[in-house]
Amino acid sequence: MKLVTVLGARPQFIKAAPLSEALRKKHEEKIVHTGQHYDYQMSDVFFEELGIPKPDYFLGVGSKQHGAQTGEMLTGVEEVLLKEKPDWVLVYGDTNSTLAGALAAAKLHIPIAHVEAGLRSYNRQMPEEVNRVLTDHVSTLMFCPTDQAVKNLAQEGLIEGVVRTGDVMADALYFHARRAEERNIAGNLPYPKKSYLLATVHRAENTDNPSRLEGILKAFAQIEGRIVLPLHPRTKKLILDRQMTLPGNVEVIEPVGYLEMIILEKGAELILTDSGGVQKEAYLWQVPCVTLRDETEWVETVHTGWNTLTGANTEDIVAAVTSYRKNPLPPYLENLYGNGRASDEIVATLEKKRG
Ligand code: UD1
Ligand code: UDP
Repeated sequence: MKLVTVLGARPQFIKAAPLSEALRKKHEEKIVHTGQHYDYQMSDVFFEELGIPKPDYFLGVGSKQHGAQTGEMLTGVEEVLLKEKPDWVLVYGDTNSTLAGALAAAKLHIPIAHVEAGLRSYNRQMPEEVNRVLTDHVSTLMFCPTDQAVKNLAQEGLIEGVVRTGDVMADALYFHARRAEERNIAGNLPYPKKSYLLATVHRAENTDNPSRLEGILKAFAQIEGRIVLPLHPRTKKLILDRQMTLPGNVEVIEPVGYLEMIILEKGAELILTDSGGVQKEAYLWQVPCVTLRDETEWVETVHTGWNTLTGANTEDIVAAVTSYRKNPLPPYLENLYGNGRASDEIVATLEKKRG
């Protein structure tokens, strides 16, 4: 089988790492990097650290308005697909790179396999929601990380080609946690275990809207304890442009590599985030999470009591942290995101489907 994988943003590198390795045991994979993320700490570091093969094509699209960015990617991916003529196009998640890859393949009648299919926030203001809905509806195979994702697709009439595989991000976490331990990443961190909170903020709804970002930073100021914040370049730019000041207890660091990030997560007393991936990783590490959004696609983390949705409201964020500090932690449900073998299952399904 020959596959073309289209990726371009940080979480996609992490998702592709375990699947690419599983695929390449028997099949040919060509990687197209759209260039959506391009800083060393947002891109190269993951290829180096996670052993992802170097991209065969680099489109170098960079940061642009949604239409221009997606359009340029579409043109670039189409050229690659015309040349490579793959049996499948693989896309991950819900970024503009996902949609461009899916659309290019759909127009050329190349079957699409969507990894992390079926996630829904039911908020069409999010660019990610538009990307994931459209991608699912042109995909031949939809690999769902959760039961909820399967249900969401069924509600939209998508049944055939839907496979519950578990989450490739769990595969990545279980595998690389061992490597991080071997390398003593924890021992080299300047933060003693459980002595800090970890935060990430990058979502458009929180960064583009000054009052939401202010609400979040005000909450951080009111929370007792050090908050380590690996800052996404999008947020950094907006904080600088608006000349916002960060609270004294917030320690801003550059975005970190994956091994350091997962160890920072594991060692945190609590996580505050608007990231999709980080919410799940918090759950897998059994670290309580406060999600700085009004809704989440990872509803099971909220149902189990390990994740609290607060939006960007200062009082709600502070109250959620206080509540986790005061109350015993909820019972933990194992295997919500599979057993770390999602990648193998995805490869087996692709092989079966091809006959
Ligand atoms: C994108 C995804 C989002 C995902 C996130 C993961 C879309 C619509 N959004 O959001 O779903 O959660 O990636 O991190 O696809 N920038 C840099 N250097 C980089 C990359 C970005 O400085 O290497 C800055 C630029 O100012 C850019 C801004 O970040 O304009 C936003 O980047 P972009 O890729 O458009 O969206 P993200 O916010 O990163
Ligand atoms: N991540 C990382 N370094 C960082 C911040 C995040 O390696 O400084 C990892 C994190 O562990 C998770 C993924 O990036 O695996 C999540 O990506 P992001 O938050 O950018 O996007 P989202 O998941 O919200 O789409």
